Amino acid sequence: MKTRKWLFFAFTSLIILPAKRDAAWIRLYLKDPMAALPEAKMPKVDLTDQEIADLTAFLRLR
Ligand code: HEM
Repeated sequence: MKTRKWLFFAFTSLIILPAKRDAAWIRLYLKDPMAALPEAKMPKVDLTDQEIADLTAFLRLR
């Protein structure tokens, strides 16, 4: 049972979550949320291209 839970966690975190949003999508969302997600409520945050690249790399690693 413990092993199955671990396998489920590994599967969802390694395969499903990274597949949900790729780096290009995250970059676009951070630049202009509504361009990536028409119903987005998150406001445009004033970020430099370097900050967007750093945040995208960080979010993709989680
Ligand atoms: C540098 C700052 C920020 C970063 C890196 C960031 C990042 C993100 C990410 C990665 C998502 C998930 C998108 C998805 O996969 O569907 C998200 C969603 C969201 N964020 Fe942010 N966010 C930031 C600032 C903010 C601010 C300042 C607000 C509101 C005042 C906000 C409000 C929201 C909301 C409401 C969502 C849910 C989806 C939507 O309706 O847009 N975020 N954010």
